[in-house]
Amino acid sequence: MTSLKPILSHIDNIPSTPGKFKPEKSPLHYLHHRLRLHTTLPRITLWTLVFLAFIFLFFFLSPPYTAAPRRGLRTTATYFGSGWENQVKASAKPRSRSGHTVLVTGAAGFVGSHASVALKHRGDGVVGLDNFNSYYEVSLKKARKSHLLDRAGVFIVDGDINDAVLLRKLFGIVHFTHVLHLAAQAGVRYAMVNPSSYIKSNVDGFVNLLEVSKSVNPQPAIVWASSSSVYGLNSKVPFSEKDRTDQPASLYAATKKAGEEIAHTYNHIYGLSITGLRFFTVYGPWGRPDMAYFFFTKDILKRRTISVFEGPDHATVSRDFTYIDDILKGCLSALDTAKKSTGSGGKKKGEAQFRIINLGNTSPVSVNKLVSILEKLLKVKAKKKVVLMPRNGDVPFTHANITLARKQLGYRPTTDLETGLQKFVKWYLDYYGGKKKGSW
Ligand SMILES: NC(=O)c1ccc[n+]([C@@H]2O[C@H](COP(=O)([O-])OP(=O)(O)OC[C@H]3O[C@@H](n4cnc5c(N)ncnc54)[C@H](O)[C@@H]3O)[C@@H](O)[C@H]2O)c1
Repeated sequence: MTSLKPILSHIDNIPSTPGKFKPEKSPLHYLHHRLRLHTTLPRITLWTLVFLAFIFLFFFLSPPYTAAPRRGLRTTATYFGSGWENQVKASAKPRSRSGHTVLVTGAAGFVGSHASVALKHRGDGVVGLDNFNSYYEVSLKKARKSHLLDRAGVFIVDGDINDAVLLRKLFGIVHFTHVLHLAAQAGVRYAMVNPSSYIKSNVDGFVNLLEVSKSVNPQPAIVWASSSSVYGLNSKVPFSEKDRTDQPASLYAATKKAGEEIAHTYNHIYGLSITGLRFFTVYGPWGRPDMAYFFFTKDILKRRTISVFEGPDHATVSRDFTYIDDILKGCLSALDTAKKSTGSGGKKKGEAQFRIINLGNTSPVSVNKLVSILEKLLKVKAKKKVVLMPRNGDVPFTHANITLARKQLGYRPTTDLETGLQKFVKWYLDYYGGKKKGSW
């Protein structure tokens, strides 16, 4: 039992009123006090040890940083078990000698899971990497892993792009010809809630990936996801790669724009071949719950009122919705047409390819039209509330000029919004209805 005596004796010596001092104690009292102090020393040592152990655990078991909240702890050392390397190598092996070997970051994400499967199905070797953060339902990321990646034979490493030791280890055991970099903190509105997560994944993480990529020999070619959001407040339509992109409307957009500039630097100094793809509002099965088409579906089914944005002076808000399969064709073609990086040993040996290409549908649809398609597909009348679009990062419209994508990638989107949403709604009802009837 802990004795209260030492504490009480300490309290004893504190003046009851500030500025007042207790009368002097006798020498006998101090001898008695010192003896009591000796008996408390082992207890103090014990508590000191507990405190130091806590500090030790905190620093050594913490992940390198926290982006969007993570579940559980993982250190790099956890990965390198005996079977781990074999799983990575097996997953990375292309079916034929001409196949690519691709590291897909953000592989548990919406685009990343589809892209990994598409690459694997056509015979490329694929290793996925994702930190499974909880920006949105982790269960959805895990379901993509079990339903899409595991079934296709894609091994996914639960790790962070900021973990240089892990990246070097992966590049050490596999010669990746390409990196499809899709890991990012996405979403424009969340940037006002957790701004540092955007810097950590979209800037720090990207730099870390480029640092490791430029150092390996041979260097991989890199294809990565930028965003239509870089066009920000640009009002010239359709958005062309030549238009200005120096007026971002959100921190998300600013980090994607920063990514494009950083990519240019690594291309210029180290000879890395880099293609940045500006995706325009990607949607489809296994999509992202933070996107309007997804949460409108959920809210319409739950008979909840949805907020439909309009611009100033009742201007229509519209998006160039691009179906996932069209985006995948663009990504795969970008990988296939990517030229080899020219550097080695961290040194540039010649000019390397540098591209920035829009991937959109080039037929914008208003949010009202989106809602009416969903009403038809869900057979439910939406309860709507029209609200002025808040200044939280969204832009009033997006519209891609895809001339460059046509020329460089042979890109031709073929899915209109109604056809794409039909596939999304079918998946949504299967996934949420199938898990538990009525859990939409
Ligand atoms: N979906 C769209 O409409 C859209 C539009 C423009 C750009 N993009 C970009 O395309 C890419 C893919 O988007 P998405 O819609 O699939 O998003 P997503 O959030 O579903 O996928 C991103 C994945 O990256 C992972 N991730 C995030 N930070 C990480 C880190 N530090 N280390 C490892 N993994 C990390 C997340 O866990 C997530 O699974 C992103 O770069 C996004 O910014 C998407």
